[in-house]
Amino acid sequence: MTDRYAVVGNPIAHSRSPAIHAQFALQTGQELIYERLLAPLDGFAATVEQFRAAGGRGLNVTVPFKLDAFALAQERSERALAAGAVNTLIFSPAGILGDNTDGAGLLRDLQVNLRFPLAGSSILLLGAGGAAQGVIGPLLAAKPARLLILNRTAEKAGRLVRRFRDAAAAVGAVLDGGGFPGPSDAFDVVINSTSTGLSGERLDLPPRLFAAAGLAYDMMYARDLTAFLTQAHEQGASRLADGLGMLVEQAAESFFLWRGCRPDTAPVMAALRAG
Ligand code: ATR
Repeated sequence: MTDRYAVVGNPIAHSRSPAIHAQFALQTGQELIYERLLAPLDGFAATVEQFRAAGGRGLNVTVPFKLDAFALAQERSERALAAGAVNTLIFSPAGILGDNTDGAGLLRDLQVNLRFPLAGSSILLLGAGGAAQGVIGPLLAAKPARLLILNRTAEKAGRLVRRFRDAAAAVGAVLDGGGFPGPSDAFDVVINSTSTGLSGERLDLPPRLFAAAGLAYDMMYARDLTAFLTQAHEQGASRLADGLGMLVEQAAESFFLWRGCRPDTAPVMAALRAG
């Protein structure tokens, strides 16, 4: 029987994961099926169990179920524990393993695809929701000199600072948090993890936010320039990147967990941009 995988979420019709994994499978000569799975908002666990009982081998998990997936997993990777969320489920006879490949995807896109080394850099992370929490551990592991988290609700940024204080100390990074607009320092890279891309709202940021050669990175992906990237361009960012690379890289990391081989992401990204 052909191995079955899927991405589960609600809504799910827009997901590009099936197209990405189909290309990975073709490229690596693996025979598998990867589908979209719509779970009712109150029926995540039942949907997963049904898929697993029908022979499913693994799932990607997207909005709004990453916390449910964390709760459902019987074993969790270190990355999942740090993120407090799971985006990849691996089924085996021993049980359900939960992992999180979002942070690894972001890091790979920044450091390999965009050739933007984070060691010694100053990073500003905008937002303190689930998406932010998922990437802070991996960002700190890259040993930046400084990581500042700003959020509309300052208290949530403070909570993340407390959660990752030890991880920051372990690599000698200065970790801080607060509300908008924050200090008027310039940063090497500014990462947007807020969901404002959806509403197109502008963030309340100080005017000169970017260091020379500063990179603006939006974890969101849209066909046109996102609201954040438009704002970043106006505020002096010399490089702009959206979240398409992160999307493909987190998928590649999940594919590796399931299949044991790493696909080449560059042609997949190019095909998605062209399509
Ligand atoms: P996700 O899992 O995508 O991070 P989330 O946990 O709901 O979703 O977090 C959404 C993030 O976007 C939060 O940081 C939120 O700020 P608050 O914590 O203050 O709610 C941020 N966000 C959403 N809409 C925003 C807006 N209009 N302006 C600024 N920040 C916004």
